[in-house]
Amino acid sequence: MAAAYPALRLRRARASAWSRALYRETVLTPADLIWPLFVTEGSGEEQPIATLPGVSRWSVDRIAARAKEAVALGIPCVALFPNTPAALRSPDAREALNPDNLMCRAIRAIRDACGYDIGVLTDVALDPYTSHGQDGLVDAAGYVVNDGTVELLVEQALVQAAAGADIVAPSDMMDGRVGAIRAGLEGAGHLNVQIMSYAAKYASAFYGPFRDAVGSRGLLQGDKKSYQMDPANGEEALREVALDLAEGADSVMVKPGLPYLDIVRRVKERFEVPVFAYQVSGEYAMIEAAAAAGAGEREALVLETLTAFKRAGCSGVLTYHAPLAARLLNG
Ligand code: PBG
Repeated sequence: MAAAYPALRLRRARASAWSRALYRETVLTPADLIWPLFVTEGSGEEQPIATLPGVSRWSVDRIAARAKEAVALGIPCVALFPNTPAALRSPDAREALNPDNLMCRAIRAIRDACGYDIGVLTDVALDPYTSHGQDGLVDAAGYVVNDGTVELLVEQALVQAAAGADIVAPSDMMDGRVGAIRAGLEGAGHLNVQIMSYAAKYASAFYGPFRDAVGSRGLLQGDKKSYQMDPANGEEALREVALDLAEGADSVMVKPGLPYLDIVRRVKERFEVPVFAYQVSGEYAMIEAAAAAGAGEREALVLETLTAFKRAGCSGVLTYHAPLAARLLNG
């Protein structure tokens, strides 16, 4: 039985900085961070994204410098998202399968510049390539079809793996895609390409700035509720994770981040596997808005929220604040 006050005074441990350091249960390091980067056409381009202040799209010739920056900061992995030109978007998203698309050129640019000093994670989903902004093929009734989409996702993942992707991350929420992608990778000899599955991805209002960044916001008709999860559901997230692990996912992701830390914790306790979370664009924008309004201090907000992910059980976090956080952690 634990002692009671006054024999027990929990404030003793908090009384000085050295003691707080000694008692600290969770440690955040740059190695816990994955930095999402947006890629765009052209050369010499840096295009700021209005709804993501401080975040830009970079042309392929400037993307490797970002990856080098990540290496220098101790960030082990970058995640790539393309802003496909409107002229290359189509109902069937065929540009996703082009081995010379923006994504594949960016992967090769980073590989050429950084070798194997950094992991390259690629997004597997059709929304940056569809003219309707949905993550899959749409039938005559406007429904996003599952199995036909999965066939394309496998091809997309193989094109990315061939270009040098280290982790393919399906963010589409189609049923059965992890197993199909895993079989495809095995068949093509990509035995060490990891799958980080967006296993519990919610139909969230926090994705708006991302859709600006990849240019799909104005295109999207309707919503994504027929494939992304209902924010009211937790048990269903565990079923999604169980399926993706059984199909061969190396790690799983929960997305968005902070509003879903209960899901992170439940997944970690139930499955004891590497769990990642995506602190998404709307969460980043909220922190920036709070800082700009003088309602909070940016650096403290960033480190506190990222530490909360670790405490909840995350192995790592995808965050647009990765370079800032790494600089702060490196002193
Ligand atoms: C789409 C995708 C989205 C994000 C990552 N991949 C948006 C969506 O599902 O509409 C969101 C990331 C963010 O908001 O930062 N496949």
